[in-house]
This record gives sequence, structure tokens and C-alpha cells, in this order.
Amino acid sequence: MKVDEIIERYNKVFCKAARVTYAPIVGVRAKNAKVWDIEGKEYIDFLSDAAVQNVGHNNDRVVKAIIEQTEKLIHFTFIYGFPVEPLLLAEKLIEISPIKNAKVTFGLSGGHANDGAIKFVRAYTKRRTLLSYLGSYFGPTYGAMSITGLEFEVRALVGELSDVHYIPFPDCYRCPFGQTKESCHFECVEYIKKKFEYEVYADGVAALFAEAIQGDSGMIVPPENYFKKVKRILDEHGILLVVDEIQTGLGRTGKWFAIEHFDVVPDIITIAKPLGGGLPISAVIGREGIMESLPPLGHTSTLSGNPVTCRAALAVIEEIEEKDLLRRAEKLGNYTLKRLEKMKNDHELIGDVRGKGLMIGVDLVKDRETKERAYDEAKKVVWRAYELGLILAFLHGNVLRIQPPLTIEKEVLDEGLDKLEQAISDVEEGKVGDEALKKVRGW
Ligand SMILES: Cc1ncc(COP(=O)(O)O)c(C=O)c1O
Repeated sequence: MKVDEIIERYNKVFCKAARVTYAPIVGVRAKNAKVWDIEGKEYIDFLSDAAVQNVGHNNDRVVKAIIEQTEKLIHFTFIYGFPVEPLLLAEKLIEISPIKNAKVTFGLSGGHANDGAIKFVRAYTKRRTLLSYLGSYFGPTYGAMSITGLEFEVRALVGELSDVHYIPFPDCYRCPFGQTKESCHFECVEYIKKKFEYEVYADGVAALFAEAIQGDSGMIVPPENYFKKVKRILDEHGILLVVDEIQTGLGRTGKWFAIEHFDVVPDIITIAKPLGGGLPISAVIGREGIMESLPPLGHTSTLSGNPVTCRAALAVIEEIEEKDLLRRAEKLGNYTLKRLEKMKNDHELIGDVRGKGLMIGVDLVKDRETKERAYDEAKKVVWRAYELGLILAFLHGNVLRIQPPLTIEKEVLDEGLDKLEQAISDVEEGKVGDEALKKVRGW
């Protein structure tokens, strides 16, 4: 089969709601940070499969765990029975989680986990109101969609959960309050107080939902003391803090959970994406009292806690521990940030470089003064990168997403960064035509 034929057949059977594409890559094989397509072309994957492959594509330990478990027991539902694998995984998650006396439930996707968190916080607090962030992404399920602050078209078409309010995320590059790092007085924190004074009854708020680092909005890293200040306000009103670690968790930023950079312990953490090494599994980890607030079957699914996905997840965590991937993410992340900063000096198109560990954004701008987002240029860079053999994507239309596996070899990382710089130069020099704009969709 040829790529064009496959794409044509895709368009016939899949509705547009199912997908959003960047480049026409028909992946057939992958190992660590490399992917090969159906025509044998090799790519370096700077996307890690949308932040899934923290321990690398087809990691040996994960593959072995899946094969062994598949031969023994594919499924024995943990909602009725007592298979050992979900137990071992839950115990391990409790061990690595910063939440004391935590309990766990499993699900199938990030959105599913966030829907669970909504139910737990509402049941526990007996309050309905939820606070979320502008620019946040929590997933495509009904609850997660309803607290997402990034994509409103679907909600306009289908309706949403009620009692959700939004606050601005602390974005120090494009400050919503027009401040600079020098003039900042944490206006974003003061805004929460104003919100409670004029719009939302604070003692009726169940929880604030936050990504520790906003991913899909363009890798936005809050200032160091931000969450501590916010937590103080939440505590005054008995409001819970739910941290979505679906993109940031399991070593991506150099810690098990990104919220640990901010010295705050949340009440609930949700994880998914990298947990199953590519198999579908999510978890809600929360304080015992909160997690005991729903009745039996309050948040689970027949296939939750599947032994194969749980074994895969245990292998992912073992791999992170044994290969010391938290340290590696930090080290390679710092190295990558340095290389990108140097690129910024040489390329006007780069307005900002930011991130933690191997969760990095390269913000492309038309003009460094106005910070106008360079949407077309981002599409062209992604397209040129694809032609050069680098899998790359953008977020918020203009922020290049640099999230390679934490296991990427240093030489491969360097090769990928060279290709990235080449792609940026080619776009700056007008070597990439406007046809690319029609080929790359992205979001
Ligand atoms: C921060 C965050 N939360 C939730 C989700 C949704 O996860 P899933 O696609 O597994 O439902 C995503 C996916 O991109 C995400 O980045």
C-alpha cells in the first residue's frame, strides 16, 4: 500500500472529529526515539506520540511485560475480581505520589480520569462550582470538555456542564495583565480574589482544576511561587486542588509530577498518556477521604485495571526508576533549552523558548516586539521538519512542541535539533512554499 492510497481510505472512513493531522506519516515500526514509515523512511520523534512514549517507543521492558502478561491473563475485571496487577500498580502509584494516604481508581484515558476527578470533588465537597483556566486542556469526554478553556466550538455545538468558571493562567511571556517579569505583582493571583469578590461564591467552589504546566496552550510554565500563593487562597475557602499530570507526569519535566517543582501538594492528581507505555490506561490518585466519597462503581469501567495495561504501566515506572530517567529528563532538558536559546539568538522567528525537563515550547512570532503568533511559519516549519525526517507538531497554532522520549540518545537528540534548526532556517529564507499550509492542519 502507498501513503496516498492510505490517506484517501482514511478520509473515507474516519470523521473529522476523530483526528487532527500534521504530516502524512504511515508509521509501521518504532524503537525508542525513531519511527519508520511504510516506505522505509526513518524519522526522529520529537513528539513522543503526543507525550506518550516517555520510556521510548517499544521499550524492551514494556514489550516483555505485555507479552508475558498476555500469555497468562489478558483480562479478569478488577471491578468484580482481585487480579494482582492493578493492585501492584496502585501500590506503586501511591508510593511515588506526593499525596499522603492516597487511594486510586483506574480508567481508560486522560479525559476519563478528569471526568472522575470532577465527580469526586463534587461528591466530597457537596459543592457544584468548578474553577478552571483559560487555555487549559482536560480532554474530550463530557466533563473534561466542559472544564477545558481552549476549545469552545464543540461545546457551542453540544452544550456543557454548568457551574464552571475560568481564571487566566500565569503566562509570563504574554502576560494577560500586560506585565513584565520586572513589573509583575502576581496580578493573576489578585484576580482570583476579585473573582471571588464579584462573580463566584468562593465557599461554593468544589475545586480548581490546573495543569501544572499548560501543555496544549503552548508549554506555559508558571512562576515558581504561583501555586503556593493560589493554594493559600483555596485553603481559606475549603477549595480542593486537582492537578492534571496527564501530559506533564511520570518524569516528563524531571520529576515524577510537575507540581513537585512548585512545592505544593494537590488533593487529586490525574495521569494517563505515558502511564501504559502506549496502552490505554489512566488513574485518579487522591486523598483517601475524597476518593471514598463516591459509592461502588462511581468511577470505573469494565476494562479499567486491565492486567496487561497495568503490567505495562508497572514496567514504565520500573524503567523510569532503574534508568534514572527523572535525572536524565532534567539533564537533557537543560541541554536542549541551551541549544534552543542559542537558536533564538540566530533566528528572529523564535520569540521565546521555555519549559522544564523535556517538555519544551518554542514560540514562533512574526515580530519579537508585538509577539504576534507566526501561525503560517509554524505550519511550514513542521512540514519542512517532516521532509527532513523529524516528527514535530505545534500547539496553540505557533508553539513548536519539543517532547522527545526521556530515553532519546544524546546523538539522536542533537540530530533532531539540527534538523529543527535547518527547518527554521529554510522557512526564514522562504524555501518552503505555501502548499505546506494546506497540508498541515494541526491545532
Ligand atoms: C493536559 C491534558 N489533559 C488531558 C488530556 C486528555 O487525555 P486523553 O487524550 O487521554 O483523553 C490531554 C491530552 O492531550 C492533556 O494534554
